[in-house]
Amino acid sequence: MSTIDAFDPAAIAKLAGELFANWPGAVPSSVPSSVPSVPANAHPAGFTPPPGSTGPATPNVQPLTAAVPGSNLLPSSPQHPAALAAQLPSSLPHAPAGNGVPDLGYTAAPAWDGRFGSSAAGVAPASPSFYFLESPRHPGQRALGEPSHAAPVKPAFDVNAVRRDFPILQERVNGRPLVWFDNAATTQKPQSVIDRISTFYEHENSNIHRAAHELAARATDAYEGARKTVQRFLGAASVDEIVFVRGTTEAINLVAKSWGAKHIGAGDEIIVSHLEHHANIVPWQQLATEKGAVLRVIPVDDRGQLKLDEYRKLLGSKTKLVAVTQVSNALGTVVPVQEIVALAHAAGAKALVDGAQSVSHMRVDVRAIDADFFVFSGHKLFGPTGIGVLYGKKEILEDMPPWQGGGNMIADVTFEKTVYHGAPTRFEAGTGNIADAVGLGAAIDYVQRLGLDAIAQYEHALLGYATHALQPIPGVRLVGTAEDKASVLSFVLDGYSTEQVGQALNREGIAVRTGHHCAQPILRRFGLEATVRPSLAFYNTCEEVDRFIAVIRQLANKR
Ligand code: ALA
Repeated sequence: MSTIDAFDPAAIAKLAGELFANWPGAVPSSVPSSVPSVPANAHPAGFTPPPGSTGPATPNVQPLTAAVPGSNLLPSSPQHPAALAAQLPSSLPHAPAGNGVPDLGYTAAPAWDGRFGSSAAGVAPASPSFYFLESPRHPGQRALGEPSHAAPVKPAFDVNAVRRDFPILQERVNGRPLVWFDNAATTQKPQSVIDRISTFYEHENSNIHRAAHELAARATDAYEGARKTVQRFLGAASVDEIVFVRGTTEAINLVAKSWGAKHIGAGDEIIVSHLEHHANIVPWQQLATEKGAVLRVIPVDDRGQLKLDEYRKLLGSKTKLVAVTQVSNALGTVVPVQEIVALAHAAGAKALVDGAQSVSHMRVDVRAIDADFFVFSGHKLFGPTGIGVLYGKKEILEDMPPWQGGGNMIADVTFEKTVYHGAPTRFEAGTGNIADAVGLGAAIDYVQRLGLDAIAQYEHALLGYATHALQPIPGVRLVGTAEDKASVLSFVLDGYSTEQVGQALNREGIAVRTGHHCAQPILRRFGLEATVRPSLAFYNTCEEVDRFIAVIRQLANKR
């Protein structure tokens, strides 16, 4: 905590300026002599840009030109020529800037922002230490400030170009540019996802799997292509392990109603954590009530981290299932799911991991985690609402009875007997959400083009920046201060209800969620019924954080 207390943005910015100035790769020799000025983020209070800097918060660093304009995103791969033709304009990298700045791929990544100090500059490890440079990494993430062996480090991605891929980010709310800090509730959609769905309805729309005509083939290809995309995204062994559902909630209910009905009996125990969203509590509670089973809860410490020793004590021969989130939606805690799953397996239990809040922030590999089930929602991954995924190990899915009956999931029906398809079709009764599954595939293509590791690194720095600005404001109580956190800054402000804070932010065009976040047990663990919850994504910027902090400071000063 001492490093947090000692944080001083101005000092960090000054220090970063010195580091940048001394960094040998700071001014690439390939930079053309006449470069247009770069759209840059506003710098924080207390930071004076040095003379000759190219952006207000980018001391002594010239903008990099990408090798190919906009080359940090490649066009998506549509399913067939008709789709390609219809999709071309938006599958080209980045929509033109609303402000008329040509999309030439100039890099003004906040990863090079003085406010992030040496975070992406590949400077020597002898750099002074700051909390957000030292925090534990997300899987696959290089430590901020750690030199790469491939020097100089290329900035992770161009946030200004990325923002232009999201039309809604041009929106104004109450006369102010929208700041979307409600990403844990739902994420915004890039143009490529919007276009992919339009293309589906314009050129491919049909029911799937069951007609001899061309459009049925196109629609089926698109839908099954999306399943393949999900399989690769999760690192699943087989496409048959990917079941399309409405979302995380439906996926968990499916497991409870199918696997749970078959394998949970009286006296059996299901373990969840105190962090869980209601979607990962209620279905297990319902199952436990129905079967006479027992729900047990892994406690958390005062920072919102799971107490693994207590978890070990809960495990036993009666444990049949452990169901935990990978990232808490209310606190942002990153949970060590690999360890939790391994311990569950050692006790002979199965494990379900709720990835609703993790898949947009970090690389996920279900085989590395060894989860028996992994679930997530498309709309929290820059895809459409109404589509989500249940991953299940093949042998486990094959052993599960269907949970709904109807068309599509059957191999043969007579009045005496029905023979079901295998997984995943067995679990997809009726006409599913075909177009949005295809849209989810496009969303996954999009985040993979950006790179999950680059996203994690950028967001980690942004969260650190926001935390250091928010935490010292008098009257602010940050709820959830785990060492390993993603995206979320839950807090309360003395003298104000959470609604009042939310309304004050909304007046400035800043969208946050206030309330219990469908996670009442964990908020009550901290003596609260509600918090204000800004939640960040890779298209958010330091400038947006500054606007948010300004509102909170104003409120705090008026108390
Ligand atoms: N689960 C969503 C949230 O955390 C709705 O806001």
